[in-house]
Amino acid sequence: MADPKDLPYRITDLEASFNTNATPSNNASSSSDELLKPPPTAAPPATKPPLSSLLSSYDFETVASRTLAPKTWAFYASAATDQLTRDANRASFDRIWWRPRVLRNVSRVSTGARMLGRDVSVPLFVSPAAMARLVHPDGERALAAACASRGVGQCISTNASYPLPEILDACGGSATKAPPHPVFFQLYVSRDRAATASLVRSLPRPAIAALFLTVDAPVPGKREADERVAAPDDLAAPMSGARATNDAKGGGLGRVMGAYIDASLTWDDVAWLRSLRPDLPIVLKGIQGAADAMRAVEAGVQGIVVSNHGGRSLDTSPPAVLVLLELQRCCPWVFERLEVYVDGGVRRGTDVVKCLCLGATAVGMGRHFLYALNYGREGVEKLVDIMKDEIEVSMANLGVKHLDELHPGLVNTLDVDHLVPTTMDHPYAKWSPRSRLVKDAASKAKL
Ligand SMILES: Cc1cc2nc3c(=O)[nH]c(=O)nc-3n(C[C@H](O)[C@H](O)[C@H](O)COP(=O)(O)O)c2cc1C
Repeated sequence: MADPKDLPYRITDLEASFNTNATPSNNASSSSDELLKPPPTAAPPATKPPLSSLLSSYDFETVASRTLAPKTWAFYASAATDQLTRDANRASFDRIWWRPRVLRNVSRVSTGARMLGRDVSVPLFVSPAAMARLVHPDGERALAAACASRGVGQCISTNASYPLPEILDACGGSATKAPPHPVFFQLYVSRDRAATASLVRSLPRPAIAALFLTVDAPVPGKREADERVAAPDDLAAPMSGARATNDAKGGGLGRVMGAYIDASLTWDDVAWLRSLRPDLPIVLKGIQGAADAMRAVEAGVQGIVVSNHGGRSLDTSPPAVLVLLELQRCCPWVFERLEVYVDGGVRRGTDVVKCLCLGATAVGMGRHFLYALNYGREGVEKLVDIMKDEIEVSMANLGVKHLDELHPGLVNTLDVDHLVPTTMDHPYAKWSPRSRLVKDAASKAKL
């Protein structure tokens, strides 16, 4: 039996258990006296409450906000400029209501699903995130072990803090052996194309199930909370070779460690990637509208992730779940032609089930798996368990036993429908920008 002091308690109790001197804000971007704080210290600022007392993804976030080193919190929690998209990703889910069905014998509910032909126990995956070692010494190795034990997908970042063989080793995989869970490799294409080609060619099959090409961050977004805290000098990403530095703009890890990314990438490069690895499915991560979803089908990729990088690239880009609705409205046939994943703002089992009702195959979470990693592998396992439980409870109360019984008729989206575009172009503004902004024909031709 659990020790009474470890029994679950609510967030107010969690807050009371912290050292009240350490209160980093979720929106750490405002005050100028925050500029360039010292690099992270070895000692965390407060003691973590027992893992057994955490009940939701929000609890992990609260603990992380109080216990992570200032730089880690600034890098993880931050988003571009005013952080509106980061917050709207989350808030948009709250504007979609259910239309539950009753009397459907939901005594047994199953969350089993498939991603690109691989089984997962829950339609959930860990979205790729750079430098997981900042939060825990086992970093991506602990994420891998937890995903393997719980049977959920994992997407490993080009900017991971461990090399791929070490991550695979932590979850029973190797160059020749697939781990028990689907592992995907997220790719940032470097300006050094030869280095990218060599990295892509080296990806072991069957251990790596697909290549996720990130397309929503040709240049890093302006993340002020991250810039305000100095980066440690000794931080490096082994696979991309990126190194942390501080410069005149600040200490933004996202910016300096993304400096190698090739902003000249185009749709033609999808064919180039395929030529490097015809055996690997390609998924485009960062589709933000119907026009590019249709272009992805034309490009012949196997999947897309509807994502805005957790609001870290272009602030006021549309919330992910609204883009999912845009696809349903403008090009519903894409759901038949490729797998559609979503990430951004997913915090609850209800968020996951809403995405599935609207056509998603599986749903990713970024920050909150990092916050759970604050407790190592066990923390990540616990967050998966919490999400699975919330998904099961949502399904049962919706009157659904299996994921393939979910459909759009179970959600009421009226509160956001007016925000969903009906056409590719602007509905009424028709001016032509080029004639006014570019003087000579030669410049026009370059556009
Ligand atoms: C700290 C951090 C690092 C990230 N690093 C990457 C990355 O290396 N590659 C990538 O494609 N996306 C990266 N992302 C974006 C995530 O994959 C994901 O799209 C986003 O976190 C989803 O939003 P959420 O945090 O609200 O769940 C990162 C996000 C965070 C928070």
